[in-house]
Amino acid sequence: MSASGHHQHHQRRGEHGAEAVDFDWDAAGAQLVRGAELHAVALRATVRWLRGEQPGARRILDVGSGPGVASALLAEEFPDAEVVALDGSPELLRLADERARAAGLGDRVRTRQAELPAGLAGIEGGFDLVWASLFVHHLGDQRGALGRLAALLRPGGALALTEGGLPTRCLPRDFGLGRPGLQERLDAAHAEWFQEMRDALPGAVAVPEDWPSMLTSAGLAPVASRTFLTELPAPLPADAREYLRERLSRQREQLADRLAPEDRATLDALLDPEAASGILHRPDAFYLAAGTVHLGRAG
Ligand SMILES: C[S@@+](CC[C@H](N)C(=O)[O-])C[C@H]1O[C@@H](n2cnc3c(N)ncnc32)[C@H](O)[C@@H]1O
Repeated sequence: MSASGHHQHHQRRGEHGAEAVDFDWDAAGAQLVRGAELHAVALRATVRWLRGEQPGARRILDVGSGPGVASALLAEEFPDAEVVALDGSPELLRLADERARAAGLGDRVRTRQAELPAGLAGIEGGFDLVWASLFVHHLGDQRGALGRLAALLRPGGALALTEGGLPTRCLPRDFGLGRPGLQERLDAAHAEWFQEMRDALPGAVAVPEDWPSMLTSAGLAPVASRTFLTELPAPLPADAREYLRERLSRQREQLADRLAPEDRATLDALLDPEAASGILHRPDAFYLAAGTVHLGRAG
C-alpha cells in the first residue's frame, strides 16, 4: 500500500514468469458506483430482506464498503440506524461520504478508514448487522476474517456476506464475432487469475469456500443463503453499456496472457467505441447477474 492510497499487490503471470501488480482501489470508484447502481433493484431487495431479519437495527457496519452505494441504501431502509462505512481506500470513502450527504443521510452514515484485518482491532463492536459485499475474498485468511467480523456483532446480530453466485452474462454464446463461447473462456481464465490473486494475498490460507459452514465456524447460526438476480434485457441503456465496456476492458488487461490471440482480437472489437459491433452499440447486449448473500446470526 502506498503512503496516500490503498493498493493491493497481486501476482500476474507475464512473459517472464510471475510479476507483482498493484490493484489501485482508489481509482476504481466510478466503476464500483456504476456496478452497484446497475444492481440497485437486487441490492434494495437484499436490504429489505435483511430489514425483515434484523428489524429495528440501530448499528450497521458496511465493511469493504467501497464508494458506499450500499451504505446509503442501508441507512435509507433502516431509518433508525447509524451506518459505518469502512474501507481501506480514502478516495472510495470520500465518494461514500459525498453520496450519503447528497441523499440527506450524512448524519447517519459515517466513514472509517482501516486496512483489514489488522484495522478491525480498533473498531467498537455491538453491531446489529454487518454487511460484507464482495469483500472477504480480498483477505488472505477468509475464515479468520469471518471470525473477527462475527465478534463485532451483539448477541442476535447478523452477518450478511455476498460471495459467489453465477457467472455474469452479457452476450449470446455466438454473437457473430470470433469463436463462439468467449464468455465461458473468460470465466475459465478468470478462475485461474482469481486463484493466483488469492495465493498472492498476505497471509493467504486455502479454505473450501462453503460460506454457510464458514459462518458456523465463526460461531454463527446460518440463517439462509439467497440469490438475487439482476436482469437487464437487450437493448441495454447507455450506463449499462459503459459498465460492460469497462468490465471487458479490465478482463482484457487482467487476462490477456491467458487468452488465445483470436479471443483478444474479439475483445478488442467489442471494446471499439465507434464500431457498430462494439459493446457500446450492439443490439444484442444484455446483462444477467446473480449474486448470493449468506446470512448468519450470533447466538
Ligand atoms: C470489490 S469492492 C466491493 C465494494 C462494495 N462492497 C460492493 O459490493 O460494491 C472491494 C472493496 O474492499 C476494499 N478492500 C479490499 N481489501 C481491503 C482490506 N484489506 N482492508 C480494507 N478494505 C479493503 C476495497 O478498497 C474495495 O472498496
